[in-house]
Amino acid sequence: MPLYKTITVNKDTFIAIWKVGETEGDLAKGIQLSDHCQSRYDGMKSELHRRAFLSIRHLMALYGYEDKDLYYDEFGKPHLKDGNLISITHSHNFTGIIISKSEEVGIDIEKKREKILRIAHKFTPFEEYRTLANTEAIVRKLTIVWGAKESLYKIYGQQGISFLHHIHVTDFSFSENQTTAEIIYDGKVSHYHVHFMEFEGFTLVYGIRQKTG
Ligand SMILES: CC(C)(COP(=O)(O)OP(=O)(O)OC[C@H]1O[C@@H](n2cnc3c(N)ncnc32)[C@H](O)[C@@H]1OP(=O)(O)O)[C@@H](O)C(=O)NCCC(=O)NCCS
Repeated sequence: MPLYKTITVNKDTFIAIWKVGETEGDLAKGIQLSDHCQSRYDGMKSELHRRAFLSIRHLMALYGYEDKDLYYDEFGKPHLKDGNLISITHSHNFTGIIISKSEEVGIDIEKKREKILRIAHKFTPFEEYRTLANTEAIVRKLTIVWGAKESLYKIYGQQGISFLHHIHVTDFSFSENQTTAEIIYDGKVSHYHVHFMEFEGFTLVYGIRQKTG
């Protein structure tokens, strides 16, 4: 089953995950790419990347969207032409989208890998995790924190933000499946809800910007 999971976050916000198992030819059936996306697609060297890219268009179709309903801004952030909000992620054979009618949203899927231990100091104050029971737990937590920061980065959509210095994720326990976060940048503070789940060695994280006032 290519469609792996759907999540209704609330009445306005939906997530869909694809597990890419089909051939490129099968995924291309019924998909019409815009000139911009066709030229990006033609330039992708990795077949897995091309299949992931196509699978995203199948996920969009679940919500009535075609590739022509999407455009990218100068930073690579995707937007829907009808004004609804979208975020996109791919990691190996999993891809996902989050779509919302009213909330600013970001999504990230990451494969859990021990190599995250080597780069942890670049994106989070690593001392915070030293008390965890074992390496596996530290990798789990770091992957969630990384995914949270990627999701928030995708929402904020502004270059210059440092994962380490500007995005702060509140500590959490695994069983909570959620936490909060804030971005403090350029004298402004914004607040976010963060949710996470794990499946088949991957971590899915999505963020929603809290409305002010
Ligand atoms: C852009 C970025 C967020 C993409 O994340 P990623 O984990 O590499 O890849 P994902 O598959 O999860 O996401 C890719 C999708 O993000 C979206 N995206 C790309 N640039 C974006 C941006 N500026 N804002 C929002 N979304 C963006 C696109 O939809 C893209 O997929 P598509 O082009 O096929 O539609 C990431 O590469 C990045 O630049 N991160 C910030 C860099 C950084 O500070 N790193 C920390 C160093 S410690």
